[in-house]
Amino acid sequence: MELTPNTQKIQDKWDANFMKTYAQVPVVIDKGQGATVTDIDGKEYVDFTSGIGVSALGYGHPELTKAIQEQAAKLLHSSNIFFNEPHVNAGEKIIKLSGYDKAFFCNSGTEANEGAMKIARKYSDLKYGGDRGTVLSLNKSFHGRTMASLMATGKEAYHKYFYPLPTGYKYVDKNDIEAFKEALKDETICAFIFEAVQGEGGVYPVDKEFIEEAVKLCQEKDIIVICDEVQAGMGRTGKLFGFQNFDIKPDLVTMAKGLAGGIPVGGILANEKVSNVLVPGDHGTTFGGNALAMAAANVVLDELAKPEFLDDVAKKGQYIMDTIKSWNLDEIVEVRGKGLMIGVEIKGKSADVEKAAAEKGLLVLTAGEHVVRLLPPLVISMDEISKGLEVLKACL
Ligand SMILES: Cc1ncc(COP(=O)(O)O)c(C=O)c1O
Repeated sequence: MELTPNTQKIQDKWDANFMKTYAQVPVVIDKGQGATVTDIDGKEYVDFTSGIGVSALGYGHPELTKAIQEQAAKLLHSSNIFFNEPHVNAGEKIIKLSGYDKAFFCNSGTEANEGAMKIARKYSDLKYGGDRGTVLSLNKSFHGRTMASLMATGKEAYHKYFYPLPTGYKYVDKNDIEAFKEALKDETICAFIFEAVQGEGGVYPVDKEFIEEAVKLCQEKDIIVICDEVQAGMGRTGKLFGFQNFDIKPDLVTMAKGLAGGIPVGGILANEKVSNVLVPGDHGTTFGGNALAMAAANVVLDELAKPEFLDDVAKKGQYIMDTIKSWNLDEIVEVRGKGLMIGVEIKGKSADVEKAAAEKGLLVLTAGEHVVRLLPPLVISMDEISKGLEVLKACL
């Protein structure tokens, strides 16, 4: 990809000052409006990434911008030693919307998962003693980068080098109920964590039959079910949570990404069974429930409370998937996903498509070597969708 002098300058600065932790596309994003972003040279891109599923309300959303500006002028942070209204209001909204019993806000997806696993382990310790602390997860899952979440992540590539590894994790293939039953013979399992749609692992929705049976088996054995809704939640699949595409109700739900539309945030929802497990001193976070993040979350939650908002996400997602399938391109192996969480598996390399698309004015993501991942802002317009799809087709 040919770099403009401005982009080259920024990339050089990055290389000089940052650890090489990301494989980046050389686009310097300066601003955005709706689902379109503009780089420092004024070139526009349709955004099918929303900052990896974060900018749910797109860019320049009037209510979100206003709420953040007003809150910034008033109070940024006060800690959980005291109360602040945006925090309390966001909690009330998410509890009402989700039907869960209690909430806890933190700062990221990985932190939410760590907290949920702590709740499951403590629940189990209190009831069955400390030997029952194993967390079961699915192969090809992704649950974050901190030590417990990376161990719950069912991909060895994320574990190696970081020895000694935390113990108490087990993995099983998704959609294989016999293997799941076999895994549950391990009496030390206290929790099962899964994504309704595996995002990083290649955009794979779990099979309805498998997950409904797996959750039932866990409930029979008093194993705490944790649904990681960090990527599939907050309206992404056309439902508030990805698990609502199935007939299940997990004990714990973890959230992050889209919840505050672009301000760092994470959260846990607990049902009655586990909502009182943690007591003062067990868990906490300095930034969690930060007034600025919560002011933003309140706006996102207000949007998600509108049934027509979620219906629109489902319709747009279906339109994108149907359109891509209708191209009948030899290059495409499979189109899968739910709502605006779409994976296009291709024969060639997804990173090549990512770069070619950026050159032509479209931002897409990858999910492994052969999957182009699309996570547009939930508010993307039909016009932006058409423009983006035109570029994608040309690149494929
Ligand atoms: C399903 C899932 N869980 C957890 C995480 C980790 O979230 P964070 O990067 O906010 O820690 C991600 C991030 O991509 C994710 O997709």
